[in-house]
Amino acid sequence: MRKLAVLLALWLLFDVGGSCVQKKYVALTFDDGPSGKYTAALLDILSEKKVPATFFLCGYRVEQYPALTARIAQEGHEIGLHGFAHAYFSELSDASLQEELSRECCLIGETAGFPPKLVRPPGGILPALPLHPPLTDYSVILWSVDSRDWASNDSAAIVRRVVNAVSPGDIILMHDASSSSVNATAQIIDSLQQQGFTFITVSSLAAAYGVSLDAGCIYHKFGS
Ligand code: NI
Repeated sequence: MRKLAVLLALWLLFDVGGSCVQKKYVALTFDDGPSGKYTAALLDILSEKKVPATFFLCGYRVEQYPALTARIAQEGHEIGLHGFAHAYFSELSDASLQEELSRECCLIGETAGFPPKLVRPPGGILPALPLHPPLTDYSVILWSVDSRDWASNDSAAIVRRVVNAVSPGDIILMHDASSSSVNATAQIIDSLQQQGFTFITVSSLAAAYGVSLDAGCIYHKFGS
């Protein structure tokens, strides 16, 4: 009888505790690809670790690497726009930006099978607010944790910067543009998974925190 009571107490503790624990979600995002040199290795790591990510691609690179672009989509990752030529949006006229985004959107639609609804401006630099067309046609995704992987070839430093800064709902900025970024990604995944984090795409991250991704709105992170 006493054994039964202990078992019941343990079950209740586990069950109540389990239902109270909120899952910790984060999104890895990679800008400026696809890269003929690094994206395939990155996709291998994400596939091996079963981690979906979000890629903000450049149109000129999609044109250069259509098979890699298709592979990104086929392997369950999300794709967003990063501009056709990686020009700063603040330096383009509305008409040029329209051309830049619609050209890239069509190309990714043809190559990956669906036109993106997300956009990330190069450098995170937007034209003067409030947002106006054509940016109001997309959800603008910035970030809350900057790996600064573009500024360092020290993968351990990149890992530390991300792992020390991250909290649930964060959007992590990285680039598939160097071997240190690719190596850091594997370590960031391992370390954060050990801390109980689950990696999902940006759209899934919004949904996990009850946020609807609206066109014409800017997002840095989700949750509190
Ligand atoms: Ni960029």
